[in-house]
Amino acid sequence: MKAKINHIAILIPQIEDGTQFWVDALGLSLEKIEDVPDQQVEIAFLPVGESHIELLAPTNDSSGVARYLQKRGPGLHHICLEVDDITAALARLKEAGIPLIDEQPKTGADGKQLAFIHPKGTGGVLVELYQLPQ
Ligand code: CO
Repeated sequence: MKAKINHIAILIPQIEDGTQFWVDALGLSLEKIEDVPDQQVEIAFLPVGESHIELLAPTNDSSGVARYLQKRGPGLHHICLEVDDITAALARLKEAGIPLIDEQPKTGADGKQLAFIHPKGTGGVLVELYQLPQ
């Protein structure tokens, strides 16, 4: 299976907590900040080669992401791999007995398909799969 890293997501309390290091100190550029109401987060996109660092910050105190932050603190949240065929990838993982958060891909606003794999099956890291629209 061919895959590449689409993004690495880092969870922080406020976007500025992340841009202080990644943008102001390290010098990466800030492409855009998006409000994502259905996940109750703001996301800052920082291009790195063909991939992005994504800084995630919860926009309220009660969402799943906010509770994760309260429980585990800031840090690496997930790695996203872009694959050619997400349905085939999920079928293969299911066959291998890997616990999936999303057994079927969800469709994002821009037409991409995505699914999360449970950290219990990956060595402790939440993994997201993307299949971009053709
Ligand atoms: Co992601």
